[in-house]
Amino acid sequence: MTEKVALAFSGGLDTTVCVPLLNEEYGYDEVVAVTVDVGQPDEEFAEAKETADALGLDIHVVDAKEEFASLCLDAVRANATYQNYPLGTALARPVIASAILSVAEAEGCTGIAHGCTGKGNDQLRFEAVWRDSDLEVIAPVRELGLTREWEKEYAAERNLPVEAGNEGDWSIDTNLWSRSVEGKELEEPSHVPGEEIYEWTTAPSGETEEITLTFEDGYPVALNGEAYEPVELIETLNELAGSYGVGRTDAMEDRMLGLKVRENYEHPAATTLLNAHQGLEDLVLTKEERSFKTLVDNEWAEKGYQGLVDGPLMKALDAFVATTNERVTGTVTVRFEGGQARVVGRESPYAVYSAEAASFNTEDVTGGIEQADATGVAKYHGFQERLANKTIKAANESLGKTAPDGGLKSDDGDGTGVTAGESPLAGTDVDDTAADYEGN
Ligand code: ARG
Repeated sequence: MTEKVALAFSGGLDTTVCVPLLNEEYGYDEVVAVTVDVGQPDEEFAEAKETADALGLDIHVVDAKEEFASLCLDAVRANATYQNYPLGTALARPVIASAILSVAEAEGCTGIAHGCTGKGNDQLRFEAVWRDSDLEVIAPVRELGLTREWEKEYAAERNLPVEAGNEGDWSIDTNLWSRSVEGKELEEPSHVPGEEIYEWTTAPSGETEEITLTFEDGYPVALNGEAYEPVELIETLNELAGSYGVGRTDAMEDRMLGLKVRENYEHPAATTLLNAHQGLEDLVLTKEERSFKTLVDNEWAEKGYQGLVDGPLMKALDAFVATTNERVTGTVTVRFEGGQARVVGRESPYAVYSAEAASFNTEDVTGGIEQADATGVAKYHGFQERLANKTIKAANESLGKTAPDGGLKSDDGDGTGVTAGESPLAGTDVDDTAADYEGN
């Protein structure tokens, strides 16, 4: 029986050398090359196809753009960024991994392989999906300890079809949601990258443009009043916002294995949609929801970065995100200006906002509450801080403690030294009156 192995194939050096190695080192008779379309540029498919042809491989191209776009929009609802990076590569990996696994199963493969090194995140993201199957998971580059130098020599020896022209370039990963550039001189964190590393964004000129984005249940559905499907919307915004220089990130990124690396990203659509969505949430969610949701959002982004988008925690986080986003319906105006996508207007039928209450134009604020009712609140506000400061001061004085700068220590008071009956609040008059509120 012929043993078949499915290979995540890009046509680059790593995956190209994997082809003969899967035969020589792992004993597979046939390699099934799989390329998954998550919005890479056309040239990448052409390169993969050409290389596969030259290697005599059958290449399967799976279109997963819609599925990927819908995951990106889930990320928008969760305001998801990891260390300022909107997770393009990270979110694409589970989508790519599942698509390859489906092909592997349909083709009767007994193995499944990727060309990732042992240093990055992608090996973990792929294998998190694949190890749920019975297939043998193979990572030749990592397992055989291959280096780029060794790969180049091996490719030359075997006369493998590797484009010599690309070898000196940066390592680039592109999909619908982001384009990342790393390697070479960019590895030095102090090196200031030139304009040549950018492809999706042009350095901002003085020009500006305003657009509107309409959201339903936290999902963007229209641009300037016109309905858009997710893939189309993301592609359109990448071009439009990119032409204003929106969505550049130069990040020091902590990888899952602990390595800190320098990454440059472009993500005009992601930045625009994330900012607009956040702007609408700010209008419709309560203060309590907003502050708790940042915890949920952070956790969502962590899991997203790890490529663990399918576990029970993620489902629970998604449930919270979905509930809060039932009201994230409305329209946001965004201005592209100076490389930013800035929210400059927002409206929603769910706005938790009363212009009347906020303006204080009427004495009766809302529900019969009057300004003077705040007096009691104002008297209490800061009560514990005042009590603590007084107590610390009194205790330090009685214990003869002084801080290094000669002042009184304020961090070692533990509440001792307060004489019963002493009134620590003496002298804390409340003199804010309702009349002082204006302009607050
Ligand atoms: N550091 C990012 C991540 O782990 C992106 C890496 C992209 N790869 C590349 N060759 N540029 O998600």
